[in-house]
Amino acid sequence: MTNHQLSDEEETEMLEQILSTATAETFRNFVCEEISLQADESVLSVGCGPGFEAAVLAQQVGEGGSVTGIDVNEDVLAAARNRCSNLSQVSFQHGDVTELPVTDESYDLVIAKQVLQFVDDVDSALEELFRVLKPGGRIAVVESARESEVMHSSDPEQMRRANEVYRTVRGDRNFGTQLLSLLPDAGFTVEDVVSRATVQREINEQVERGIEVQRGFLESSDAFDDSEIEAWEQDLRDLDEANQFLFCGITLLYISRKPE
Ligand SMILES: C[S@@+](CC[C@H](N)C(=O)[O-])C[C@H]1O[C@@H](n2cnc3c(N)ncnc32)[C@H](O)[C@@H]1O
Repeated sequence: MTNHQLSDEEETEMLEQILSTATAETFRNFVCEEISLQADESVLSVGCGPGFEAAVLAQQVGEGGSVTGIDVNEDVLAAARNRCSNLSQVSFQHGDVTELPVTDESYDLVIAKQVLQFVDDVDSALEELFRVLKPGGRIAVVESARESEVMHSSDPEQMRRANEVYRTVRGDRNFGTQLLSLLPDAGFTVEDVVSRATVQREINEQVERGIEVQRGFLESSDAFDDSEIEAWEQDLRDLDEANQFLFCGITLLYISRKPE
């Protein structure tokens, strides 16, 4: 489970909603095109979620290839199996990215899209991803650059303070630039870093989750009292009512290789 406040079932429902939006689909297609999969390749999708990603990857490798999805959430896996039931080249397994239930040097490509931010021991995860990749194989890691995230506010100074709290608390989960060191430390050669900006113009399900997470951080901080948190959130909702809500953030795709 990626969020301690949600059950596995609730998390699955939330991922279904978020990952089925047009924004998520556009971004997923962008990532899958950038990684240039070839027909017949074998792919491992860690933290695969409810199978949207596996379905696109399956089209790229064709029936001669294979896509294995691994996730810690059994409910997510049930949704993934259902979504990909007509794709014979796709299979799913329960497992943790820090202890993968697969043999060494098995895959041409490993993808970890928006997963590592939820993993406590990222070094072990990257060690595992290195182990299961064939020599010369590629790894695609996708994470948000938290420092790039901005939201429009009627009170810019309050938003600046809120962002400071968010970025401080989320500091250890900001992979925007850290992956440039973490990947080589795990033995990979970083070949490309590709960026994509996401703009949200309304408080949809995905933004709602972001506000909830950020409010939780504000509540756990001394920098904001309850009335300030309420004002911060109400301002976002008032702007949304007035059709003036705006979120913008950059997501980075790191494409790296395990040496031959
Ligand atoms: C934000 S979703 C991303 C899903 C998918 N990669 C995508 O982008 O469509 C994160 C997923 O990672 C899974 N996850 C979190 N921690 C994990 C771990 N330690 N090992 C395997 N999966 C994990 C969650 O259950 C969830 O399905």
